[in-house]
Amino acid sequence: MTAPAVTAVPVHRAGRAPGGLPLLGHVPALFRDPLPFLRSLPAHGDLVEVRLGPQRAVMVCTPELFQHVLTDNRHFDKGGPLFDKLRPFLGDGLGSTPHEVHRRQRRQLQPAFRTEAFGRYLGVMLEEALATAGGWSDGDVIEVERHAYPLIARIITRTMFSADGSSAAVARIASVYPDFHAGIGRQMRYPSALLDRVPTPGNRRFRHACRTVSREVDGAIAARRSARDTTKDDLLALMIGEGLTDREMRDQVVTMLTGGIGTSASALGWALHFLSRDEESADAVAREARAVLPARADTRALTPADIARLETTSRVVAETLRYYPSAWFYSRTVTAPVELAGEHLTPGTPVLLSPYLLHHRPDLYPDPERFDPGRWSPERRAELPRQAYVPFGFGARKCIGDVYALTEITLALAVIASRWHLLPRPGPVLPHLVEPRPWTVIHPAPLRLRLRARHS
Ligand code: HEM
Repeated sequence: MTAPAVTAVPVHRAGRAPGGLPLLGHVPALFRDPLPFLRSLPAHGDLVEVRLGPQRAVMVCTPELFQHVLTDNRHFDKGGPLFDKLRPFLGDGLGSTPHEVHRRQRRQLQPAFRTEAFGRYLGVMLEEALATAGGWSDGDVIEVERHAYPLIARIITRTMFSADGSSAAVARIASVYPDFHAGIGRQMRYPSALLDRVPTPGNRRFRHACRTVSREVDGAIAARRSARDTTKDDLLALMIGEGLTDREMRDQVVTMLTGGIGTSASALGWALHFLSRDEESADAVAREARAVLPARADTRALTPADIARLETTSRVVAETLRYYPSAWFYSRTVTAPVELAGEHLTPGTPVLLSPYLLHHRPDLYPDPERFDPGRWSPERRAELPRQAYVPFGFGARKCIGDVYALTEITLALAVIASRWHLLPRPGPVLPHLVEPRPWTVIHPAPLRLRLRARHS
């Protein structure tokens, strides 16, 4: 008699992170130098207990558990320590609401990200990328995020809210977003809310940025309502059509800006950094851009099919988001008693998720500390564990702006690399070291690049 076939069910091991301090637990390791700490955790189990001060939390370390937590809506929902700090800024926007409210909101907002809408977005994305790359001169040393933030902020305000590119509101939002992000990042790391109120220069800039964002967003909503303009086909029009209140619209707009600016801007920054250290890829991206992109006068001729032809550039972007996934660390909370990897989790237990951790597991990505866009060639891609590549999350809460983000980053990178050689700033011996700063997103800081005009 033949034995019945047995389906292999992965058995998950639970473990504990070593080295927690009395009272503080693993908070110092997680907040002071988190990336090496995250990379060390899979050695201790598939689900690893860490202590956040007195509180027990668990870190998910395998793709299977990662996807399980993000799809089991009966036991896990938005929540956890980082989320709680971010919530006051985002209100009840799409990224923060509990599952039961989320489904309706997502349905209401999804049309702004449908493929047909991209016809209008592509022209704006290309125009803004050309303006940024065209504003530099041979020999300039640029501080990359000072340019990437305004570029991405201008694209999102122009596409989502049909703001006029020359309007002062676009310029004001674009100029304060670096301070807005830096402030949120600082507040997420501060253990006490009291420190948020100390009038340091950084806190003052943050408060100014918060006031500016509020004023501009409220102003854009009020202006649209009073204009009774029915010709626009953008996110604001969509929300008015769905009957959202001013408050609801405000939370959604701030969520889109906060979720969509720092993430894409830092990814673009890292992609430029990696190209500055990889001449071969930089040349290949430049050649491809020349072959695919229309000339300056022709920004409306660009189609989604052209973006699909930017294959080399897309591989650089994919590898950038593997290496430094902007949304590197987030959380869920347990909402009903559940067993995970054999561990009993009670309601309120924070569950920590890090795409960075998965993307740097050597068993999933060989030689993970090497930047290698070749991983994403069709042949090698087929060997990669697809379920372990999660820069945009997974399940019902997966990033609503994933295609939008990939499109704008790919396009901006192609435009910039086709016009400029990007040279790392020299250091005393080797090129200047660029440290990852994992705050709300992983920033490349300080990233300065020298530009040389590209003639071929
Ligand atoms: C490289 C760029 C980006 C990355 C890496 C990224 C990553 C993510 C991730 C990982 C999530 C899920 C978080 C969770 O499950 O808790 C998310 C959600 C979200 N993202 Fe993005 N994002 C990017 C760009 C954008 C852009 C451009 C927009 C808007 C235009 C955007 C808007 C949102 C929103 C609204 C959510 C909440 C979705 C929901 O809960 O239904 N993101 N993003």
